[in-house]
Parts: sequence; C-alpha cells; structure tokens
Amino acid sequence: MLLLKERQRLMSNYALPWIEKYRPTSLSELSEQNHVIETILRLVSKRQLPHLLLYGPPGTGKTTTIGAIARFYYGENIRPMVLELNASDERGIDVVRSEIQSFASSRRLFSAEYKLVILDECDNMTKEAQFALRRIIEKYTQHTRFCLIANYASKIIPALQSRCMKFRFAPFSSVALRKHVEAVAKAEGLSISDEATSIIVEAACGDVRRGINILQSCALSTPGLVDLDVVHGLCSVPRKSDMETLLSSLLTDPVPKLMEAFSTVKTRTGLDLGGILTTLGELVFTLHLTASARSFVVKTLADIQNALTCVPQEKIQLRSLVSSFLLLRDMSSTKN
Ligand SMILES: Nc1ncnc2c1ncn2[C@@H]1O[C@H](COP(=O)(O)OP(=O)(O)OP(=O)(O)O)[C@@H](O)[C@H]1O
Ligand SMILES: [Mg+2]
Repeated sequence: MLLLKERQRLMSNYALPWIEKYRPTSLSELSEQNHVIETILRLVSKRQLPHLLLYGPPGTGKTTTIGAIARFYYGENIRPMVLELNASDERGIDVVRSEIQSFASSRRLFSAEYKLVILDECDNMTKEAQFALRRIIEKYTQHTRFCLIANYASKIIPALQSRCMKFRFAPFSSVALRKHVEAVAKAEGLSISDEATSIIVEAACGDVRRGINILQSCALSTPGLVDLDVVHGLCSVPRKSDMETLLSSLLTDPVPKLMEAFSTVKTRTGLDLGGILTTLGELVFTLHLTASARSFVVKTLADIQNALTCVPQEKIQLRSLVSSFLLLRDMSSTKN
C-alpha cells in the first residue's frame, strides 16, 4: 500500500492511465500468481533457468510478473541484460531475429549470467515465424534464455512449447482483485462502497486491467465518490432486482409487457442479449422451480446463447426465448 502511495506521489505530474500508474514493478508489490513467481525465482537462484512460456487470459499479470522478476534479478544491470520485444511486431520475424542477434552477441558485462529475451504476444506470430523462432532460440541458447508470453498456449507450435517450461496464469481471484481495486481507490483518495467494489470485481472476471480501467472510468464520471449507481451505469452489470423482475416477467407476463421488460433492461445496462442470458442463467438456480422446469429453462438459455453465436440476430433469438418460456408456462398449467 505504501508503495502504491509513493508511486502516486512520484507520478502525480503525469497523466498516466491507472493500469500503468499502479503496475507493480517489484516482487513485493505483486499479488496472486505466487506459485509461478516462487518457482521461477527458485530456478533463477539455482542458475537453472529454462526457457519459459507464460500463458493465460489477458490482464492476469504475465508481462508485469516477468518484468518484476527481471528487475529483481538483474537490478541496475537490467538494461544490457534484458531485451523486451513484441513478437507480433508487424515488421516481422526478420526484425525480431536481427534485434535478438545484436542483443545476444553484444558484450556481456556479467559473463556468468544469462541474458533474457522477453517475447510478448507470441501467439500472434505466424506458424512460419514461430518455426524461425525455434531456430533462433536454439542458436542463442548457450548464453540467452527466452521467455515467451501468450494468451493461448494452443496457438504456440508444439516444437516451441517443448523447448519451454510452461506456466499458466489463472484469472485473479475475487479476493486479490478486490484488494487491488481497494488499494488503488485508496491511493487515489476515492471513496468507494463495498457493493460498488463487488460489482467492479464481478465485471472484471479475473482481469486486473479491466477492473482498474472500470474503476478509473467510474472515478472520472463522478470524481471522489464511486457508488452503486455510478458502477451500474458504467459496468454493464445489471442490478439483481432488474434481472429478478425480468425473470418473473418471462414466467408470467403477457408478451408485449415481457418485450418491454427486455428493452428496459437493455437500455439501463447496455448489455446485449447474450449478457442478459448469462445473468439470467445464474439467477435460475435461486428460483423455486420444479426440477424439470429448471432444467428446461437452463437448457433453453444455453441453446439460445449457442444459437446467438451461429445466428447473431438478437430479434430472432429473443422471439425464440420468449416462445420457449410460453411453452414452459403451458406445460406447467397442463400439469396443474
Ligand atoms: N500481480 C499484480 N498485482 C497487481 N496488479 C497487477 C498485477 N499484475 C498485473 N497487474 C495490473 O494489471 C495490468 C495488466 O497486467 P499485464 O500487462 O501484466 O497483463 P498480461 O497478463 O500481460 O495481459 P495481456 O495478456 O493482455 O498482455 C497492469 O498494468 C497492472 O496494473
Ligand atoms: Mg502482456
């Protein structure tokens, strides 16, 4: 926390986005992914660092973590020892190759240490470029270690994967995300309610970058105070009460009223039909429905979510949803 405050003070003159302003730079500031950090540090301290492949969803700290580890390990000598490249650089693999070549062959100040090449966004490289990278890694492996970073390990060719030790970055836990959001809010002098923090954490889905970006846009919208109204307005997270009304409307109201309820929720939240269905799916389990009715509703919601990906026409899918619920009502009334 002190570190965050200190950073804020140092950077107060710069209009940095908060995700950069509060990007951890040292190991002590990192939250989450502890097992990854500990294992890599152990390998580093035993001088057994293999090539690394860090992968996982966006905003889970891959770039930040390897940056902090490199800073910890090389200290002030980081500049000559670490090369950071974006592997999906539009200039292509030839540029990557020549930059690595001149970096790896330049004079090593601390001859006992490995140099480190960080290649971010490797999953955007073409297959050909990845094959070329395999050769590059082999060529410089004696004095250089490579850290590949990707969102999807499956997009990295097996030949590259097998040369690396793989570490998966999981989405941030709600607890860790909440702690970080609260710390940034405090450092910015924001007053934020517990409920508003919970909505931000929920909307971020384990992505710290998304969480902090939402917090910053809320703070810009009403400086100094972030409450439930502000967050609902900006997060596309519907109010539970709105969704309960919508669900009960689906189960009981005549069709015109039902359609109106849908359009009200869409306008208030800015959510598309898919987003609404996801929230409805979670609510279904809190309703008093018979087992068969519940399984019907869950299956219907899943089918329509699926259909939306094939035929992304909301009107058609909404009609299909409404008809399914009318059918459910029919089935229940015939049973009674
Ligand atoms: N361990 C952490 N503790 C607190 N905040 C973090 C941590 N890791 C990342 N962040 C925050 O999340 C933001 C995104 O992190 P980072 O760029 O490392 O994600 P990434 O996993 O590399 O994402 P992408 O796959 O999109 O490149 C950072 O700017 C920082 O503000
Ligand atoms: Mg990254």
